[in-house]
Amino acid sequence: MERIESVATMQRHCLEARAEGRRIVLVPTMGFLHEGHLSLLREGRRRGDLLVLSLFLNPTQFGAGEDLDHYPRDLAGDSEQALRAGVDMLFVPSAAEMYPPGYASYVNVEGLTEVLCGSSRPGHFRGVTTVVCKLFSIVQPHVALFGLKDFQQLAVVRRMTADLNLPVEIIGMPIVREADGLAMSSRNSYLSVAERRQAVSLSDAISLARAAATAGETRSEVLLQMVRRRIEREPDAAIEYARICDRTSLQDLSRADSRAVLLLAVHIGKTRLIDNSYLFEEDCLS
Ligand code: PAJ
Repeated sequence: MERIESVATMQRHCLEARAEGRRIVLVPTMGFLHEGHLSLLREGRRRGDLLVLSLFLNPTQFGAGEDLDHYPRDLAGDSEQALRAGVDMLFVPSAAEMYPPGYASYVNVEGLTEVLCGSSRPGHFRGVTTVVCKLFSIVQPHVALFGLKDFQQLAVVRRMTADLNLPVEIIGMPIVREADGLAMSSRNSYLSVAERRQAVSLSDAISLARAAATAGETRSEVLLQMVRRRIEREPDAAIEYARICDRTSLQDLSRADSRAVLLLAVHIGKTRLIDNSYLFEEDCLS
């Protein structure tokens, strides 16, 4: 496995690999790898012959007062896991390498980024699309893998890729969960023992809503009331949003149908967690 910090070197290697006819797969991350990230790498390994993992804590997607300075890091541990997962190239640029002095260009997807996480985190998706677009341009992947855990992010990246005619196949991967249902996240490391116990309320609430929907209850308001009641049982939980939306437009649905996705953002103490699920089917590769 080669570790590369320079944009120019990374781009040169990838252009050469392309010229040799190799199929390049990119898994973009912010590091502090867990099983969710590893599931993307495993699928990525299968889908091409040059597997690139980017570890970049992207400052432009964090707002003022967010957790950029406290975000967990473990470059040594991440490198070891990457090696074991069969990564060929580890791309670890510095912030100055990605955003040198004078940097002034941003990519913005309209509409989809103005709802849900976009309302409480203005500028977040602009940072995500900018860095993903830059990574696509540096690595020139044939395929890039993203998790359904960040459902809105995946929708926004798909929109950007289609709108800008980027020749990259976007693969969405199922959410990897802890044994009790909590969706894996680098941010789970912020939770105290008591908060960790309360954090299971997100996936519990999702299970309740899925069971009720399967049993025939399709009124979104009724399903969301169940969800809110389950989460509000926890003393340190504060719901930011609980919505049932169309999976493509992310617009609210008054009745859950086959296109419905339940989306949650909940603060447990100071930690902001997100989770989601389709209401009528398992997560699937798409
Ligand atoms: P990060 O939070 O590190 O996540 C990297 C990728 O792993 C994302 O596609 C995310 O959806 C996926 N992922 C995280 N937890 C997962 C889980 N439990 N199951 C399955 N997949 C999971 O998302 C980002 O970084 C950044 O915004 C990034 C796209 C790298 C741009 O900076």
